[in-house]
Amino acid sequence: MGLNRFSSLAGTLMIYAMVLSQSWWSCHGCLDEERSALLRIKSSFNYPIFLQSWGKVANCCSWEGVDCNFTTGRVVELHLSRIREEGMGDLYLNVSLFRPFQELQYLYLSRNFIVGCVENEGFERLSGLDSLEVLNLGVNKFDNSILSSLGGLSSLRSLYLYRNQLKGAISVDELNNLTSLRSLDFGGNEIESFKSIHGTSDDLLRLRNLESLGLNVNHFNDSALSSLKGLSSLKSLDIGYNQLKGSFNVTELDALINLEEVYLDGNEIDKFVLSKDTRGFGNVSLISLSNSNSNGRALPFALLQSLTKFPNLRTLSLDENNLEGSFGTTLDKGNLWY
Ligand SMILES: *[C@@H]1O[C@H](CO)[C@@H](O)[C@H](O)[C@H]1NC(C)=O
Ligand SMILES: *[C@@H]1O[C@H](CO)[C@@H](O)[C@H](O)[C@H]1NC(C)=O
Ligand SMILES: *[C@@H]1O[C@H](CO)[C@@H](O)[C@H](O)[C@H]1NC(C)=O
Ligand SMILES: *[C@@H]1O[C@H](CO)[C@@H](O)[C@H](O)[C@H]1NC(C)=O
Ligand SMILES: *[C@@H]1O[C@H](CO)[C@@H](O)[C@H](O)[C@H]1NC(C)=O
Ligand SMILES: *[C@@H]1O[C@H](CO)[C@@H](O)[C@H](O)[C@H]1NC(C)=O
Repeated sequence: MGLNRFSSLAGTLMIYAMVLSQSWWSCHGCLDEERSALLRIKSSFNYPIFLQSWGKVANCCSWEGVDCNFTTGRVVELHLSRIREEGMGDLYLNVSLFRPFQELQYLYLSRNFIVGCVENEGFERLSGLDSLEVLNLGVNKFDNSILSSLGGLSSLRSLYLYRNQLKGAISVDELNNLTSLRSLDFGGNEIESFKSIHGTSDDLLRLRNLESLGLNVNHFNDSALSSLKGLSSLKSLDIGYNQLKGSFNVTELDALINLEEVYLDGNEIDKFVLSKDTRGFGNVSLISLSNSNSNGRALPFALLQSLTKFPNLRTLSLDENNLEGSFGTTLDKGNLWY
């Protein structure tokens, strides 16, 4: 009898222990499906040294570069930038490997010598991941063909494609589908212009929520500015180190009434042109015109003079312009600091 009671007590305890360990597991562990997906990623990246710790303990939420939501036990952040070395060669990414992470919010894959995606396994495969907010693909070797695979990532708020191999005219059609985008960075490519399959009259970026756009170090000339004229929420524009020359027509960007910071360094702008009715740039408080004297030309006085037309300008950066002598008092409006 006593033995029977004892064994039933032991049985109850064992059930308790199982229930406890299971709830402990889902609180602090990770899903089998996500753990095995991470191990597949590790092997597809050719077992980078950085990921050596992966697999040593069962709880993948504690692996380097992996962050989970501790309520659901699911992976929400993957920090996989700089995990491959150059000597490992080029990588074609199989994006399907990331599909199991249904709650993924942040995916960082910058500087990994990725040249593109495996055929039919591109970013269109992530179109069901409705939580994905940040995708960083900077410092890789993606070409223009990446853009057509991004149109389904409608929850994206930040997309980083700086320092890749985008060239010439890039298509706005899929980009314009990314209506949640707040931040877009194409810096350090060889892009010349935007285009659309619907023809030249429709080469506009229509990202109504976009607040920050990086186009620096590309090959844009003044005719590309017209593609930006609908970005009414834009607060920060960096189009430094491009091929802007001569008069900068601010009226063209009249819809950019929320713009606060404009980086125009390393171009050859002679002056800003705007009329009394121009509203664009009305809120601009910072303009950067460093390195605007390329080819040994002097910084045009007309350029400095035209700056007085921006009522809210508070910070002006003029580094690396070999400025000499003194400015006339025409600039002395009391709201400019050098
Ligand atoms: C974790 O997931 C739960 C359930 O989906 C959600 O309510 C909570 O906000 C998430 N926590 C974080 C920090 O994202
Ligand atoms: C890509 O990854 C998925 C998911 O692991 C797999 O089913 C598929 O076979 C892989 N594709 C290739 C071409 O390796
Ligand atoms: C654009 O988004 C819609 C719905 O959000 C989707 O049905 C469509 O396939 C997307 N287009 C592209 C080119 O991905
Ligand atoms: C500006 O760039 C576009 C697109 O590359 C090109 O067609 C056009 O000729 C350029 N305009 C000037 C003035 O260089
Ligand atoms: C500046 O752009 C506006 C609007 O596109 C246009 O009407 C105007 O003619 C342009 N001015 C110059 C000097 O190019
Ligand atoms: C500055 O931005 C506000 C909204 O943020 C807008 O209402 C206002 O018109 C803008 N100022 C100018 C001069 O355009």
